[in-house]
Amino acid sequence: MRILSIETSCDETAVSIITADGDFPLATYEVVGNALFSQIALHAPYGGVFPTLAKREHAKALVPLMQEALAEAELLVDGSHSATETQTADISALLLREPELAEALTTFTDSYNEPEIDLIAVTVGPGLEPALWVGVNFAKVLAELWNKKVVAVNHMEGHVLASVYDVVEDNKLAQIGFPAIALLISGGHTELLLMKNWGQYEKIGQTRDDAVGEAFDKVARLLDLPYPGGAELSKLAAVGRKANVAPFKVALPRPMLKSGDLDFSFSGLKTAVRYAIDETELTDTDKQALARDFEDAVTEVLVKKTSDAVALNGAKSLIVGGGVSANQYIRTELNRHFLQEHPDCELYFPTPGLSTDNSIMIALAGHAHANSASNPAAAKLFKAEGNRSITNN
Ligand code: KG4
Ligand code: ZN
Repeated sequence: MRILSIETSCDETAVSIITADGDFPLATYEVVGNALFSQIALHAPYGGVFPTLAKREHAKALVPLMQEALAEAELLVDGSHSATETQTADISALLLREPELAEALTTFTDSYNEPEIDLIAVTVGPGLEPALWVGVNFAKVLAELWNKKVVAVNHMEGHVLASVYDVVEDNKLAQIGFPAIALLISGGHTELLLMKNWGQYEKIGQTRDDAVGEAFDKVARLLDLPYPGGAELSKLAAVGRKANVAPFKVALPRPMLKSGDLDFSFSGLKTAVRYAIDETELTDTDKQALARDFEDAVTEVLVKKTSDAVALNGAKSLIVGGGVSANQYIRTELNRHFLQEHPDCELYFPTPGLSTDNSIMIALAGHAHANSASNPAAAKLFKAEGNRSITNN
């Protein structure tokens, strides 16, 4: 089965072509085409993702990226035939709010024939709704044009599957032991999920305010680091840790460490950093100390709650996913703690490149639900859902 996948939930536009040999979860996958455009530099001046800009950039990037992915997959079929008048009218009608995308697609269909793909997988949520809609509408149009089935993908399930997919070793999903706990940490989410089997998610903990990635980004801003500061902040923390700098003059809290549940709260920690800085002119050492202290505080809470979740549920696997799972210190500390406290629980982290948003993970999640894919007519009813929860899959 060949899957074309589309991701536009936030500030990366991505299109992949993946082949799946076998049924989920035992299939062998091959990424035959992969194209991604990150809008990060465009949003940096705003200090965060600017939804209208994200939407416009997705609309601009989708057709060129699809063309690039198809070319890499050697699926770009030259075709002299133009889109029929009905097709052109359909494209314009479905992409009424994305005239630029409609035009680019019409130019594409004027030059290329239908590619040999079997399924379209598209992120429908969670994410920024205007951004999601561009991808969803694009998928509907392609389905109609080429008469393909479409599967609606939950972005967070994509992150879960990215973490158990081993591109380096064997192009398969790890055959994890259940029950499993998934710790999803990204710019928009901080959740602990209990998985009794593939595709089954029960939310057992979540943030009550800011997501971890959001806290990293906001604290990075307080330290004058460029957006999105998560990775930068972590680099600075590593410098401070290596130099063994003294703790910053004000100690940071461990929010909800002893709350007795599996929930998180990070907005107070960010505020604590702001108050700690107060009017201080920060030296380089101060910044290293604060970055390190902040990362220590976040990590301590994440490790404790995750460890509790594993213990409470007798979990055999821990899946860590989302953009923040790229964080080396969090990985090291989880590994260290689990080796001591839960040696029988296997840990899974995404391979480099698959922790932040991408469309490979969307293809994997699409394959998981390939059996419930919709035909083009039914797919026309798909909606972007900014707050879509992974538990309503
Ligand atoms: O999953 P993702 O790419 O997008 C969302 O769905 O939110 O996650 C992006 C988030 C950003 O907040 C970014 O600062 C954070 O992940 N991030 C990191 C690191 N790399 C990315 N946070 C801490 N340490 C890192 N190394
Ligand atoms: Zn994400």
